[in-house]
Amino acid sequence: MIKLENYAKKKLESIRRKSLYRRLNIIATIEKMQIQIDGNRAINFCSNDYLGLSQNPIVLRTVKTKLHQISQCSSRLVSGNSPDIQMLEDILANHRKTEGALVYSTGYMANLGVLTAMADKNSVIYSDEFNHSSIVDGCRLSGATIKIFSHNNASDLHRLIDTDQNLDSVRKFVITEGIFSMNGSIANLSEICRLAKDANAITILDDAHGDFVLGRSKDYSGTADLLGVSRFIDIHISSLSKAIGCFGGYIAASHNIRELLINKSRQLVYTSALPSHLCRAAVTSISVASTGLLQKKLRRNVEYFVKALRNLGLVTGNYSGPIIPILIGDEKITVSVSNFLLKKGVFIQAIRFPTVRKGRAQLRISLTAIHDREQLDFALASLEILGRRYKLF
Ligand SMILES: Cc1ncc(COP(=O)(O)O)c(C=O)c1O
Repeated sequence: MIKLENYAKKKLESIRRKSLYRRLNIIATIEKMQIQIDGNRAINFCSNDYLGLSQNPIVLRTVKTKLHQISQCSSRLVSGNSPDIQMLEDILANHRKTEGALVYSTGYMANLGVLTAMADKNSVIYSDEFNHSSIVDGCRLSGATIKIFSHNNASDLHRLIDTDQNLDSVRKFVITEGIFSMNGSIANLSEICRLAKDANAITILDDAHGDFVLGRSKDYSGTADLLGVSRFIDIHISSLSKAIGCFGGYIAASHNIRELLINKSRQLVYTSALPSHLCRAAVTSISVASTGLLQKKLRRNVEYFVKALRNLGLVTGNYSGPIIPILIGDEKITVSVSNFLLKKGVFIQAIRFPTVRKGRAQLRISLTAIHDREQLDFALASLEILGRRYKLF
């Protein structure tokens, strides 16, 4: 026991020395994006509630009026598979235009569930270097050979696929995010899908941050929809705790893939079912989102904010999604910048290793449809002061 205490102490000291120490802040929502963080008021720019649906009165009413059980307290394969999960899955399959959908308890579990059920030691997975940790963990747990291509780089993917030309007998997978969770970039899906198809590989898209936010169709079914490549995606993965403002994760795919997951996916079989009231909340959220009004508000906020940041010289790229990074690099400076902003009343978290590479620390701003203009301007003014102070532009 003492040995373990010493181990923990030493590890923590080393984490602190590298400015990588993390602590749990106590955060209470006051209203919309106004929060109280460890007792101080601030505007929240760290939420994935992109459409503000977690606080939508229509969604809240659904949960409050029909609540008669907190949880089914059982796995879906035992007594947890409620009609509400089934209804949600039908709606999600329709949203994705796939034969079926399958709800998991989180997006994290959905990634683990798909990758461990579909890939094995006889498989090769080509994975973007910036893919989310749940994808990384799913790849590792599957036992497959993992080949990492440089971020969003179709030529590098091509190079890797080419070296495996003779491996006809192995199952190949290409996996990427749609809107990348940390740097907000949009995947080069047209090229990636084409390469995967030529190599006879299975294409998996985790679009947790683009789903219900982006799209050409009125369904806003995400990055693949926006880029017109939905039909090339074999398995869609997403989270219900981002734009939909609820909780849970899901996959959408063919009937047979869904059936195989039900039979093989340990992350579905050996855990409790998503509670019914959360499924009903998600169903209502999807119906509110389907008007498209919130996506338009979000888009206006993103355009306004990115333009102002570009004028300040704090960002250079174009961002169509709600995540906007400001790259700083040094971990220590990034943490003090984030603390400085918090003192001013703006909560923008410092993202550091291992979430991003060492020396590539950044601020990650996420915008929502329910930030008002005053809040955006307040943040911009604080970022301007900060940019001067830390010589960021
Ligand atoms: C790309 C991506 N996939 C999956 C997840 C996990 O989703 P969940 O929060 O539902 O577990 C996240 C969460 O941040 C994510 O960014």
